[in-house]
Amino acid sequence: MARRVVLGVAGGIAAYKACEVLRGLREHGLDVTVVPTAASLNFVGATTWEALSGRPVASDVWTRAEEVPHVRLGQEADLVLVAPATADLMARAAQGMADDLLTNTLLTAHGPVLLAPAMHTEMWLHPATQRNVALLRERGIRILDPAIGRLTGADSGPGRLPDPSAIVAAALDLLRRPANADLRGLRITVSAGGTREAWDPVRFLGNRSSGIQGVELARTALSRGAEVTLVAAAMDVPPPAGVAVIRAESAADLHAAMTEQAASSDIVVMAAAVADFRPEAEGGKVKKEGDAGVDLRLEQTVDVLADLVRQRVGVAPTIVGFAAETAGSPERLRDLAMAKLARKGCDLLVANDVGDDAVFGQPTNEVLILDSAGDVREVPRAGKAEIADAVWDAVLAFRA
Ligand code: CTP
Repeated sequence: MARRVVLGVAGGIAAYKACEVLRGLREHGLDVTVVPTAASLNFVGATTWEALSGRPVASDVWTRAEEVPHVRLGQEADLVLVAPATADLMARAAQGMADDLLTNTLLTAHGPVLLAPAMHTEMWLHPATQRNVALLRERGIRILDPAIGRLTGADSGPGRLPDPSAIVAAALDLLRRPANADLRGLRITVSAGGTREAWDPVRFLGNRSSGIQGVELARTALSRGAEVTLVAAAMDVPPPAGVAVIRAESAADLHAAMTEQAASSDIVVMAAAVADFRPEAEGGKVKKEGDAGVDLRLEQTVDVLADLVRQRVGVAPTIVGFAAETAGSPERLRDLAMAKLARKGCDLLVANDVGDDAVFGQPTNEVLILDSAGDVREVPRAGKAEIADAVWDAVLAFRA
């Protein structure tokens, strides 16, 4: 049976973006019942929700009362998601009010609850809203941080609805691991994407890392309760909603950011593809001269992972490295990975064979996870979110 999601829509202009969220959920085979608040129907009408969800829609508790929807919907849902969640909706939820079908559903939800707030910056930052958010989070409700950017008026700031695809991904995570908060209390820093090394002011040397695996690591850690920082080099995908993001262009930037974050992290994961070499940078744009080619001299960059291991004093943090190898066979991958684990001195190493276009930019991967205690786990081809969960399982097992 398809899993059931209640999509609550509160009364804000971002309600129109909930249509995209609904589509995304449906594309993943989920059975979605939309519960709009009465106010939200000023932005998107019930007809739209009925057509897109294929299910009847009501805002009040009196419609089809014989089915007792105010209790049944929440009890039967595998997930209740509210997008957008307005200041008013969160205030009512925090107080436990039950004045419409959506707030009733929130009070009777048996499964996880996820809120994606959207409102004007001043409303989001107001102490009343911040208190309500803190209270709801204390009760185990997942609340995404709003995105920062242009608001409905001319101004900008935090308050935008997170990207619909990020909301859908967070919802899928909660459905996959509803009550798992086994990373709660841990501060985790993940690096992701590929660094860019400037040759001159317009050109750089980059690599094919898409950042997808690092982003999935950050997202799954967040959904398992961790406090997550993503140190993001160049990525083809947006960072997940709810994680702190530090941008890093070059290996040197990434080194600085990771060194600083490692000091206060329990776990660091180096999923970024860091350049091993950088051009000797030119001050001005390198010009063509006749038909002549040009020599590019490369110097080595700092090995961030090895340096994090070197700087580690005492116990924390657990350090996880990645290994991108063109191994060709599982046996050779294992040998190369064992050698790299020993050479880098990290606690765990996630090795993948990048030889046949099956990793970069792809939604799936297959990896070997090794730890310095000798444990080896083979993770067969799976989505990068599943791979990420397997990495966290291995990290927790190692720390235990
Ligand atoms: N790494 C790093 N700094 C670098 C190069 C790599 O921190 N300058 C990290 C990567 O983030 C990854 C691990 O080291 O976690 C292994 O990266 P990989 O490219 O597989 O290995 P290299 O160290 O580059 O070794 P080799 O080129 O010999 O395979």
